[in-house]
Amino acid sequence: MSTIKTRYLVIGGGIAGVTCVETLAILHPEEKLVIITASSLVKNVSNVSFYAKTVVKFDVKDTEASSLLKIHPNLKIVYDSVKYLDTKNKIAVTDDNVSIQYDVVCICTGGIPRLISDSNKFNRILGIRDTDSVKDFQEKLKDGRRMVIVGNGGIASEIVHATQGIQKVWVIRDDYISATFVDPGAAEFFQDTFRNKSEENKDTTILRRHIFSEDDTVVSINKNLKSAALGPDWYRKLENVKNASGEQELEIIYKVEVESVEEVNEQEFALNIKLTNGRTIQCDFVISATGVEPAVNFSCDESLKRGFDGGLAVDEFQETSIKDVFAAGDVASATWQHAPHWFQLRLWTQARQMAGMAAKAMHARITNETVLQDFCFELFTHCTTLFGYRVVLLGKYNGQGLGNDYEILLRTTPRHEYIKFVLQNGRLQGAILIGETDLEEMCENLILDQIDLTPFGDDILNPDIDIDDYFD
Ligand SMILES: Cc1cc2nc3c(=O)[nH]c(=O)nc-3n(C[C@H](O)[C@H](O)[C@H](O)COP(=O)(O)OP(=O)(O)OC[C@H]3O[C@@H](n4cnc5c(N)ncnc54)[C@H](O)[C@@H]3O)c2cc1C
Ligand SMILES: *[C@@H]1O[C@H](CO)[C@@H](O)[C@H](O)[C@H]1NC(C)=O
Ligand SMILES: *[C@@H]1O[C@H](CO)[C@@H](O)[C@H](O)[C@H]1NC(C)=O
Ligand SMILES: *[C@@H]1O[C@H](CO)[C@@H](O)[C@H](O)[C@H]1NC(C)=O
Ligand SMILES: *[C@@H]1O[C@H](CO)[C@@H](O)[C@H](O)[C@H]1NC(C)=O
Ligand SMILES: *[C@@H]1O[C@H](CO)[C@@H](O)[C@H](O)[C@H]1NC(C)=O
Ligand SMILES: *[C@@H]1O[C@H](CO)[C@@H](O)[C@H](O)[C@H]1NC(C)=O
Ligand SMILES: *[C@@H]1O[C@H](CO)[C@@H](O)[C@H](O)[C@H]1NC(C)=O
Repeated sequence: MSTIKTRYLVIGGGIAGVTCVETLAILHPEEKLVIITASSLVKNVSNVSFYAKTVVKFDVKDTEASSLLKIHPNLKIVYDSVKYLDTKNKIAVTDDNVSIQYDVVCICTGGIPRLISDSNKFNRILGIRDTDSVKDFQEKLKDGRRMVIVGNGGIASEIVHATQGIQKVWVIRDDYISATFVDPGAAEFFQDTFRNKSEENKDTTILRRHIFSEDDTVVSINKNLKSAALGPDWYRKLENVKNASGEQELEIIYKVEVESVEEVNEQEFALNIKLTNGRTIQCDFVISATGVEPAVNFSCDESLKRGFDGGLAVDEFQETSIKDVFAAGDVASATWQHAPHWFQLRLWTQARQMAGMAAKAMHARITNETVLQDFCFELFTHCTTLFGYRVVLLGKYNGQGLGNDYEILLRTTPRHEYIKFVLQNGRLQGAILIGETDLEEMCENLILDQIDLTPFGDDILNPDIDIDDYFD
């Protein structure tokens, strides 16, 4: 049984673990650092570019863990998995019984997709959390006739919205649908890009919608816009879509879960899906779009406090309920008092932000300095590329937590850009920017400063008016 001594210990080689190592390499390169990674491949973040102070875009790739040695002179890599954490004596023990004694530790063990049980037995159950994988699976769907979609988040909604020519049964555990990622208006924008290019107009449309009541009373000022989406109950409209042969395309079943999956090769459909309400559905595929669960698969001498979602509860410095034990990324549950326009969403962006914060706080602990929480936690941002378009999500981009008393201002130019502003009391609360809109910085400022936009009316999104001029 060997023992390694280190100042800093990082557990896990995902975005969070690697970012923590990178940040410590900058802050404290002369100190010893150990990373424990269960896999020889770790994540590499590259091409980092800033669209605004808090809006950062980067690429993520897999790379050999050994490449981390280039960036940190005093790094040691332990290819193993942590099985026990002794927080009193500050020792982490691995599966191979290696003990690592640390001063401060950051747990970055991520999450595991909350797949349907036994799902890895079948290659007809596809786990999806991102639209990149949505593209892949569209190929697979070509020969399918019926699929079951599980999950009530944005990805599930998007799949339902974006697929055609296949029967869909959408299984939802709750009695509502929450669009956590991209909204149906945006999905429609993407769908447009797949249509025959020469037939489409490229006219810019601006419209304002008032969301003011629960019962789907959505008032559209511009009634010409064909986009029926965006109402709180937009998905209801999909339920009655019939294809040319008169067949129902979508059925939504609420408040049920998948109980079991059975492969039945001799039948018309390959899978039998048994639901908790006793019903059995036959299908070719199951799409599981149910998010991740924080992964803590090691034991601990003292129990670490959990957040409501099961993640390790952390304060604004990413420290858990036990001193000198930090956590970042999908495994962490942000239990500090959030800024009004920030919320947790388990994505690369936040794994990176949390890990940067954790590294600063760990360094401060060792050097007896004080830290402030990083500015990035003032505003939720996420930047990604979907179907070749830049997608930037800011603040309460889907009206999260705003009740029904908010307005949506939209500007959309097919195959060029899609801009959605979420306003409350005349102030910008969130935005979705698709395409090269160059509005990131302005939106960031408008949200953070809560500037009253009432005087500008719909001009805020008038492409012929340079809004930036107003604020110079
Ligand atoms: C299919 C899928 C697609 C996604 N697509 C996107 C996307 O396009 N954009 C986006 O922003 N986000 C996306 N996400 C979310 C994103 O992957 C996560 O938010 C992010 O990777 C979290 O990083 P992390 O470092 O916290 O955890 P992880 O990336 O999960 O890394 C954790 C690491 O810790 C290791 N580990 C676990 N337990 C132990 C242990 N006991 N000892 C040692 N090592 C351990 C694991 O092997 C793993 O390498 C996606 C998630 C999934 C599942
Ligand atoms: C914990 O997770 C890691 C990474 O996924 C894995 O290698 C290890 O075997 C797991 N340990 C246990 C006890 O399940
Ligand atoms: C970085 O960006 C360039 C240009 O967009 C691209 O060619 C390259 O593949 C990217 N690198 C990684 C690691 O993704
Ligand atoms: C990540 O990849 C980039 C580009 O391929 C490289 O320059 C950089 O050194 C890599 N970083 C690490 C930590 O491996
Ligand atoms: C680690 O130690 C435990 C208890 O001492 C022992 O049961 C186990 O076999 C050891 N594992 C390895 C891989 O040496
Ligand atoms: C697209 O539309 C044009 C004109 O309507 C037509 O000539 C062309 O064949 C169509 N292309 C495809 C791929 O459908
Ligand atoms: C209508 O849907 C059914 C089942 O999804 C399919 O078999 C049929 O081919 C579809 N018809 C058309 C015209 O798309
Ligand atoms: C930090 O404070 C502790 C206890 O007060 C002390 O032992 C340690 O030497 C200090 N470290 C530094 C770098 O000043």
